[in-house]
Amino acid sequence: MEKARRFLSLSMSAVSNCSLYSQEHSAIDDLAGEALVVLHEILEETESLEMMIVENDLVVNRVPLREIGLQGNNFIKRLKRKGISRVDFLKGITISELRLFISNMATAEEGLKPSPHIRSGIVDVRIGGLKLDFDLNMDDLAGFTSGQTDMVKEVYTGISPFKRLNIAGLEEIVVNFIITFRKEVGILKLISPVKSYSEYTYTHAMNVAVLSMFQAQSLNIRDDLLRDIGIAALLHDVGKLFVAKETLEKKAALTGEEWKEIKLHPVYGARYLGKIDELTRLAPIVAIEHHMRYDGHGYPKMNINGKKQHCCSQIVAISDFFDALRSRRPYRRALEIKEVLTLMKTEAEGLFSPFLFNNFIRAMHKAMSE
Ligand SMILES: [Fe+2]
Ligand SMILES: [Fe+2]
Repeated sequence: MEKARRFLSLSMSAVSNCSLYSQEHSAIDDLAGEALVVLHEILEETESLEMMIVENDLVVNRVPLREIGLQGNNFIKRLKRKGISRVDFLKGITISELRLFISNMATAEEGLKPSPHIRSGIVDVRIGGLKLDFDLNMDDLAGFTSGQTDMVKEVYTGISPFKRLNIAGLEEIVVNFIITFRKEVGILKLISPVKSYSEYTYTHAMNVAVLSMFQAQSLNIRDDLLRDIGIAALLHDVGKLFVAKETLEKKAALTGEEWKEIKLHPVYGARYLGKIDELTRLAPIVAIEHHMRYDGHGYPKMNINGKKQHCCSQIVAISDFFDALRSRRPYRRALEIKEVLTLMKTEAEGLFSPFLFNNFIRAMHKAMSE
């Protein structure tokens, strides 16, 4: 945090100098140069330096920065005047980008000029008490989705019974997608292509989350539930992390015992997620129910007193089936969405609620025609 404070102080001194002298004054270059050295040191340890204004506080990489002093307050005041409430500095930032940021900050103009390693935002989104101010860069959608996959990977690699689950990270991924929906970015642009086998876990988790939120949105489900469905969908297969890797990745036919083990992943997942108090209750429910079927078959077999699968589990099951079909058989070409939908119709008998399934097919066709 000390470095973040130092970076803030140096760059804001440079901004003040811009107002005192001409923009080209050498003192500004010197301060910008020093600020960049500190920023690079920070970015050696983390991918980005995120500064967000929440109420009147400055939150740096999700931690409130106390005693920010005059320069920190000046930073907040100037950002607010520009209508911005979040700035991210990314790895790879150059002196000319930082210099541009500094001269931008010295003016009263709204917003910041775009720059590849500085992102800023003015969107105010409140979802179920969670507020994120961020204007996502929609010019590079492929970059956005692969960035999101990396975030899923980061959260997933931190999953272990002995560590805390990064719930804030999961929420951020989900909210980013909700923002993209609000911007009317088509679903087809957001589903990631089938990648290498090692990336499959994360791409699959993300695609299932995106498709489930897409379905929920098409059913006009309210925002906080939309967020919870997204989080539950991201975690639906988490139990697979507790199944032996050799079994999961085995290329040859599985033995009966190995199948039994794989089929336990919903139970492992629910057991793990059920212990996390701060997590939406939907997460363990969806984890245990996502391989159950509408007609009562599927696994695990549970006596749920005649109760049907939760409707959110049904939504996730549809997304799961779609993404599995789309990425089936790695040696074959990837199937077109249309082909997947046709295949789904022939294979879906008894699997899903007819209402939700028809809604999914209809919404996907609509997305394809847009
Ligand atoms: Fe599964
Ligand atoms: Fe799955």
